[in-house]
Amino acid sequence: MGSCLGTQIKAESQCNAAPNSKYVNTDGCDLSSSGSDVSKASATHTRRRRSEGEILQSSNLKSFSYAELKAATRNFRHDSVLGEGGFGSVFKGWIDEQSLTATKPGTGIVIAVKKLKQDSLQGHDEWLAEVNFLGQFCHPHLVKLIGYCLEDEHRLLVYEFMPRGSLENHLFRRGSYFQPLSWSHRLKVALGAARGLAFLHSAETKVIYRDLKTSNILLDSNYNPKLSDFGLAKDGPAEDKSHVSTRVLGTYGYTAPEYVATGHLTAKSDVYSFGVVLVEILSGRRAMDRSRPSGQRNLVDWAKSYLANKRKLSVVLDNRLEGQYTIEEAHKTATLALRCISIEPKLRPTMDEVVSALEQLQVPNVNGGKPKPSVNRSSRRKSEGGVKNEKTSTAYPRPSASALYA
Ligand SMILES: Nc1ncnc2c1ncn2[C@@H]1O[C@H](COP(=O)(O)OP(=O)(O)O)[C@@H](O)[C@H]1O
Ligand SMILES: [Mg+2]
Repeated sequence: MGSCLGTQIKAESQCNAAPNSKYVNTDGCDLSSSGSDVSKASATHTRRRRSEGEILQSSNLKSFSYAELKAATRNFRHDSVLGEGGFGSVFKGWIDEQSLTATKPGTGIVIAVKKLKQDSLQGHDEWLAEVNFLGQFCHPHLVKLIGYCLEDEHRLLVYEFMPRGSLENHLFRRGSYFQPLSWSHRLKVALGAARGLAFLHSAETKVIYRDLKTSNILLDSNYNPKLSDFGLAKDGPAEDKSHVSTRVLGTYGYTAPEYVATGHLTAKSDVYSFGVVLVEILSGRRAMDRSRPSGQRNLVDWAKSYLANKRKLSVVLDNRLEGQYTIEEAHKTATLALRCISIEPKLRPTMDEVVSALEQLQVPNVNGGKPKPSVNRSSRRKSEGGVKNEKTSTAYPRPSASALYA
């Protein structure tokens, strides 16, 4: 979820931890009142008018007590942490499938419990946004929200458990618990995430997700991706409007340049973020990485010219994918990514178009098939020159090293 920081400069100093670094501009932190227009779309209309009480009452979500979630997570045990974000920590827990009451670890169904940090500045608004949006949707590529807790100062959310954790972990973490994602799995994840976004952008839903990044794409046991973390989601513009004017919220490296410059938010802002994720998927590099040599820290700035040139594409492609794709497939995927990160929003495809393009690129049998003739790797090695000091051998302990993702 987004955190409301005082200024961009303040946030920028946190960029080393890039994936979760979020920023806002300097014009305030009032998420609830930031001005979106009144929509004619009925679902959007209904959603906008709902008060907090209505949101909580109308959802089919279970209202958990704090004590129940404490019991379900074994008192929010340190070794049950599944992940951390701007909002707080996410814990593994267990509940009974029928009664939804806490059960002993290892019995009933597994849940993920997100617990708001006590000092989170705008946590309540983001917490409510998740209940409001995610609580209404049911889609194979959106994580299921089971319930929430609103008690005194406590704000928690209860989701279905996603056994393989985030795409971020699979792309960037090294060590025996995270084998490199195969080419076919990467395309499968890209397509599923695109379908989730296309659903959000569809005429009846009309939602702008605003925080697409690898840590918000979660994977089930079959590598089916689901979008999670709806704290920054926003109703799209009314029929007669081109954009929503709002504060700039998002994550460094993923946010569309025109949105950062003007505060004008459109579905095409999400398409830009999707393009950044696609470049991360292709390259195995983070959108922002301060540990890289200057000139390579912002992935999109660095990768753009290589992505556009079929012969230089191998400079960008993740060398752990060697032998798994044809140059044609890689080129098509790179071209799609480039269209998504066009500076001019009108040149970006819609998410429906992205879905169609990715459907064409899927590998028929995700778990099998012979390796395909690959791009000649020697050119990449030459071009990468001395970039050997990448942190490729770091083994990450908890939470990724727990047996949860094995
Ligand atoms: N349902 C879930 N199942 C498994 N892991 C999860 C789940 N939800 C979140 N996580 C882990 O916790 C991390 C942070 O969750 P997220 O919802 O993005 O929180 P924040 O709003 O603080 O960014 C994710 O990147 C992921 O690693
Ligand atoms: Mg997140």
